[in-house]
Amino acid sequence: MSEIFDVLIIGGGPGGYRAAERAAEGGLKTVIFEENKFGGTCLNEGCIPTKTLLNSAKLVRHAQESEAFGVKSESVQYDHAAVIARKDKVVKTLVRGVEVAMRHENIKVVRGKAEIEGRNDSGFTVTAAGESYTGRNLIIASGSKTAIPPVPGLKEGLESGFVITSREALEEKDLPKQLAVIGGGVIGLELACFYASVGTAVTVIEMLPKIAGNTDPDICAQLMKIYGKRGMRFALSSRVLEVTKDSLVFEKDGQKETLACDKVLLSAGRIPSTAIPGLEKLGAEMNRAAIVTDRHLETSVPGLYAVGDCNGKLMLAHTAYREAEVAVNHILGKADEIRYESIPSVIYTDPEVASVGESAESAKNKGISVKQVVLPLRFSGRYLAETERGEGFLKLLEDEDRKCIIGCHVIGPYASELIAGAALMIDSALPPERLVRTVFPHPTVGEVLRDALFQLI
Ligand code: NAI
Repeated sequence: MSEIFDVLIIGGGPGGYRAAERAAEGGLKTVIFEENKFGGTCLNEGCIPTKTLLNSAKLVRHAQESEAFGVKSESVQYDHAAVIARKDKVVKTLVRGVEVAMRHENIKVVRGKAEIEGRNDSGFTVTAAGESYTGRNLIIASGSKTAIPPVPGLKEGLESGFVITSREALEEKDLPKQLAVIGGGVIGLELACFYASVGTAVTVIEMLPKIAGNTDPDICAQLMKIYGKRGMRFALSSRVLEVTKDSLVFEKDGQKETLACDKVLLSAGRIPSTAIPGLEKLGAEMNRAAIVTDRHLETSVPGLYAVGDCNGKLMLAHTAYREAEVAVNHILGKADEIRYESIPSVIYTDPEVASVGESAESAKNKGISVKQVVLPLRFSGRYLAETERGEGFLKLLEDEDRKCIIGCHVIGPYASELIAGAALMIDSALPPERLVRTVFPHPTVGEVLRDALFQLI
């Protein structure tokens, strides 16, 4: 009889490769199937490549504004081809790192498209590259793909290359002069920020009355103000009517506007990518394209798990990591469960935006009585030393009844780094009196978080 594995994993992105690492370390015989490159969207066409581009864009802005800091940089030249080449180098290194991590005695890597044959008393059977593999547990980590809204001309535009998604944006050798961005969410804002910093005229068209989804409204307003000053245009509460060969037509307040542009970036959301041949044979509960999971990431079928974007919960690479750890712990019989409440999210604009937990509005909707502290980042010596304009601020929210931190929202430099401290505060559920005993290094921007705690005591 052929070998029966402990775990089969479909997909080698952050959810899949972290599950393979944890399973192998836990002594489970594991098979991981990947038809493309390891690293998934995050490494190949998402988190990492965008951060390399955004860092180059930040350098451009710093050079342009350096005089205020006593540094003259007379001619700032941006070389897009060199930036893309550097991005490719970074991505290659990290993908190789994941491939090396998969070289574990308990992991078998199968290159090819996985097809699910079914499930019997021995477990789940998956076929790929002409071989069949049976595992007692199956983890689906198949990721997500760009959502394409039903806008006339959009499909044709994608075919002709006039409309691009984040994937193509990261490969394009030339910069557009005029860019129209459909969707003012995370991807739209990060790429709009990049293009605007390197000289492209950018207009963001968002159908809702505000950008950045559930992000704190004051932070959204601040970000729009900062980007407005740098020349970016926002059309909110706007409906895209049509994409033509060289323009985008939208409607705002009953007025039709034609925006001439040489590229359109589509960033109107992502949907779970779950068209795995044979998945339907397992009969797992679905919510449209998303695989429904519980707090152990198990689906309605015992032994079948779904981690990362494919379950549609919180499409973030670090969520996928944690979900993978929880799923593997459940397989190993270790007590663990996911807590989405304390998972931070970041928008890597310049300045950065980071949040975790409840906002004043979401807390109110849940009937939680909240005490909120708002502090300018100017309270930090390092912020003043490194920044000329006092645009940054931090909000910290306490549950007045439970006496613990339930939310934090920041706009400013290092926001992405300091938010982990706030996530720990929420996760620990310790009272502010206890939390302030932790000493923060000085000078750091994060000290403002500790200052805010004092105001809650
Ligand atoms: P999103 O859901 O963040 O934003 C999409 C935006 O497009 C929404 O504001 C929506 O109202 C708007 N929209 C939808 N249809 C539209 C239309 N026809 N016309 C105008 N506006 C329209 O989705 P996004 O930015 O594509 O990102 C996808 C996923 O990737 C998200 O779950 C995000 O969390 C994740 N991501 C995370 C990053 C990070 O953590 N830094 C970076 C990039 C992506």
